[in-house]
Amino acid sequence: MKILLVDGTLLGRKTGAILEQVEQYIKELDEGLEVSQLHLADFEHQFVDGRPFDQYNDDMKKLVKTIEEADGYILATPIFQGSIPGVLKNTFDFLHPKALRYKPVSIVANGGTYQHHLVVENQLKPILDYFRALVTPNYVYTHGDHFDSENKIIDENVHERLREMARVFVKYCELSKDLPKETIDQH
Ligand SMILES: Cc1cc2nc3c(=O)[nH]c(=O)nc-3n(C[C@H](O)[C@H](O)[C@H](O)COP(=O)(O)O)c2cc1C
Repeated sequence: MKILLVDGTLLGRKTGAILEQVEQYIKELDEGLEVSQLHLADFEHQFVDGRPFDQYNDDMKKLVKTIEEADGYILATPIFQGSIPGVLKNTFDFLHPKALRYKPVSIVANGGTYQHHLVVENQLKPILDYFRALVTPNYVYTHGDHFDSENKIIDENVHERLREMARVFVKYCELSKDLPKETIDQH
């Protein structure tokens, strides 16, 4: 299975740092998973504006193809203005409504305040529910206090929650293998 770790932001380093850690925990649990990272910051983004898909730039075509070809995801998002970054929402808007169906997804998020962890529950999960993704009940919300000055996670409780999330995610990967997937062919 191809597992894509998606860093859903153009700025900031903590979400990428969390994904590095999750990658290690997932690989420790299942060496058979093909894990790779995708950073939205590496792409030249265009807004979804209704033009035919073949008129978007090569980066947007590559972004959509890479996401749609994956079998499962760890999504990392910072909190911006009490929500997810616009670039992450724009990326979702590019996807076919069936692109994530029955695929496992776990979420990690980082915010500057502790109060905004419910952004995951109230804003990100509903989008993934729309896609009918298999969202694990575990997600991990971090805050600046959980990192050292080099963005290494120093909070042991966060490590434990990431390990637990990885354990559940790997089980969801197993589950998803037996569920029917759609062939996406509109692009
Ligand atoms: C435009 C912008 C808006 C932000 N809005 C919020 C917010 O509403 N709530 C919050 O908890 N943090 C907010 N933050 C803080 C970011 O979530 C935080 O800086 C980021 O996750 C930390 O990553 P970094 O240290 O790697 O840059 C905001 C940051 C930016 C740049």
